Amino acid sequence: MQICRTKAELREAVKGFRAQNESVGLVPTMGYLHDGHMTLVRTAKAQNDRVVATIFVNPTQFGDASDLDAYPRDEDRDFALLKAEGVDAVFVPSVAEMYDPNAQTTVETEQLANLLMGALRPGHYKGVCTVVSKLFNIAQADRAYFGEKDYQQLLVVKTMVRDLDMPIEPVGVPTVREVDGLAMSSRNVRLSLEDRQAALILNKALAHGDYEISDEREVDELEAELHRFISREPRAKIETIDVRDAFTLEKPQGKINSPVVILLAARFGDVLLIDQRVCDPS
Ligand code: PAJ
Repeated sequence: MQICRTKAELREAVKGFRAQNESVGLVPTMGYLHDGHMTLVRTAKAQNDRVVATIFVNPTQFGDASDLDAYPRDEDRDFALLKAEGVDAVFVPSVAEMYDPNAQTTVETEQLANLLMGALRPGHYKGVCTVVSKLFNIAQADRAYFGEKDYQQLLVVKTMVRDLDMPIEPVGVPTVREVDGLAMSSRNVRLSLEDRQAALILNKALAHGDYEISDEREVDELEAELHRFISREPRAKIETIDVRDAFTLEKPQGKINSPVVILLAARFGDVLLIDQRVCDPS
């Protein structure tokens, strides 16, 4: 596995693949890899001749500096995992390599970036789109893999690719969970034992919501029911509960009669966790 610390090194590696007419799958990550990330890698491996992973804790998508500093990192462990999975190249740039000090250009999906999680974290999706479009430009891959766990992020990236005619196919991969149902996340290691247990309420709430959805349900009613359900866990500090159209993320009017996504965000201690589930009432 080739370790590329500069853009030039990655471009050179990909040029070699392309020269042999090999397809390339890209898996962008912020590292501290778990089986969710590795599932993206395995999917990329199955669909492409070569796989490039990236590890970059992107400062422009973090609202507060303490969250950025607290983000877990373990490069050697990540390299070993990627190598074992047969990844061909990993791109691990420094912040200085990634961002020119005089950078002036950003990418933003105007509507999608500013609702839901985007409204809570102004600038977050602009940071994501900017870094992802830079990674796309550097890696020149055929396909790029993103988890459905970050549902709004996946829609934002798909919208950016459509709107800017980017020559890459974004592929969504279903959420990978621990055996007890907790969605895998690099942040899970920061949970105390009690909070780790309490956090199971999120996946239980999604199952409850899915069960409750029928064409007799109003969105507000379902959101209120989910609020009550999660509030039964005193350690959960609810940030958002949203039931939205699964394709546009707009709030469905009246009764639910087409696919929706339930989006949850809650803090356990100081750790913000998110989870989602797409539900079809039919
Ligand atoms: P990160 O949080 O490291 O996640 C990298 C990719 O792994 C994302 O596409 C995310 O949705 C996916 N992922 C995380 N947990 C998952 C799980 N349990 N099951 C399936 N997929 C999962 O998301 C980012 O990094 C960044 O915003 C990034 C896209 C790299 C841009 O900086």
